[in-house]
Amino acid sequence: MSTPTPDNSPLPSEFVAALTREARAGLIFASRHDDSGLNSLDHQIIRSRILGVTRSGNGQPLVKVDSTGLGIDQKLFLERALLRHFDAHEFPEALIYFQKASSVSATGAAPAPVKRKNPYGLTIETRAIPGVKSVIVVASGKGGVGKSTVATNLAAGLAASGLKTGLMDCDIYGPSSPTMLGVSGSMGVDKGKLVPLEGHGVKVVSFGFLSDVKTPVIWRGPMVAKAIQQLCYDVNWGDLDILVLDLPPGTGDVQLTLAERLPITGSVIVTTPQDIALIDAHKAVSMFEKLDVPILGVVENMSHYTCTACGHQEHIFGSESFADFLKSRKLSLLARIPLTKKIRELSDSGSPVVLTGGDDAKPYKDLVSVVTTKISARKDPGDSVAAEAKELHS
Ligand SMILES: Nc1ncnc2c1ncn2[C@@H]1O[C@H](COP(=O)(O)OP(=O)(O)OP(=O)(O)O)[C@@H](O)[C@H]1O
Ligand SMILES: [Mg+2]
Repeated sequence: MSTPTPDNSPLPSEFVAALTREARAGLIFASRHDDSGLNSLDHQIIRSRILGVTRSGNGQPLVKVDSTGLGIDQKLFLERALLRHFDAHEFPEALIYFQKASSVSATGAAPAPVKRKNPYGLTIETRAIPGVKSVIVVASGKGGVGKSTVATNLAAGLAASGLKTGLMDCDIYGPSSPTMLGVSGSMGVDKGKLVPLEGHGVKVVSFGFLSDVKTPVIWRGPMVAKAIQQLCYDVNWGDLDILVLDLPPGTGDVQLTLAERLPITGSVIVTTPQDIALIDAHKAVSMFEKLDVPILGVVENMSHYTCTACGHQEHIFGSESFADFLKSRKLSLLARIPLTKKIRELSDSGSPVVLTGGDDAKPYKDLVSVVTTKISARKDPGDSVAAEAKELHS
């Protein structure tokens, strides 16, 4: 690009076109050594922001930027990047003006945050996602027990039953539910909010959809907490009856952030009946109890295997410990799902088994109907389920 001479004449149209193009592609805001604390989600959100580029009376370039939905750190970063860009092209110092292109959020007014104390005595703010009626988290203590398979089938089944459903893949380090729903691509941005992709009638967001995410993601706790909140609040979910959250394994930053920030209607604990999985399931239950997240019940996954040749049923991961687990934690069984080849094959091919007609779909369909029943009685988010959970835990 040729270097324009600083004067009062309008900025060359080809420069303005290139600037807008590069801003849209994120090139202007890309930084190899980004020490601003912004993550790839921030970068995605600050794209496509330029509303107009002109020249002020004293010859300074004047850039109008859409500030809808931007935080202060995102604005500062964007301003610095634009100033650097004009400087590199030898213009006089640019003037960056922020204004809201749309003062009305796409999903209406944001619900007011509610202040409360967490179990450690710290004041935290809980804020509902605009337009989302119920939030269900699918969790486990141990990894690889079938959370994502349960979450995707639950979401696809809820959508098939006519409910407006979303799925948020909260696994930053190893997103897998998009593959199980057969969804791929990158999320766009509209009015400062990420636009979910869609698969089998479910609106899906995932870190796997961020085009500039390089694997593996290496983030520390505070960055993870911030990114997870962005996935909740910086997404144009529209109106949803239910949002299903597919959690990563364990009881770490993601679980803690979500339990503290979001009003969660109920949690679904997934475990295999194996002792080693149940030890971790106990920890997950204790965490939710401590954080006042209602527990809807437990899904026993890979409960048994039936030999396709002789019909013999084998409890590969045991069975007695699971019954003890339910009893000791006063939790109800939501579904018992066997280990089958078809479930594995359909998951890999992006076709949720719940949408098929066979025996393999039955436990997932039962899960959909029991979850629907449990959340439909509530008056306010979490109310009836919280009462039920209290009863179960008392
Ligand atoms: N009932 C089942 N029968 C057969 N295969 C299953 C069943 N449930 C899950 N799987 C398979 O087991 C593997 C692990 O499942 P999944 O990814 O859902 O677990 P996860 O708990 O989400 O794992 P992570 O902790 O890594 O997020 C997947 O390959 C999935 O297809
Ligand atoms: Mg998973």
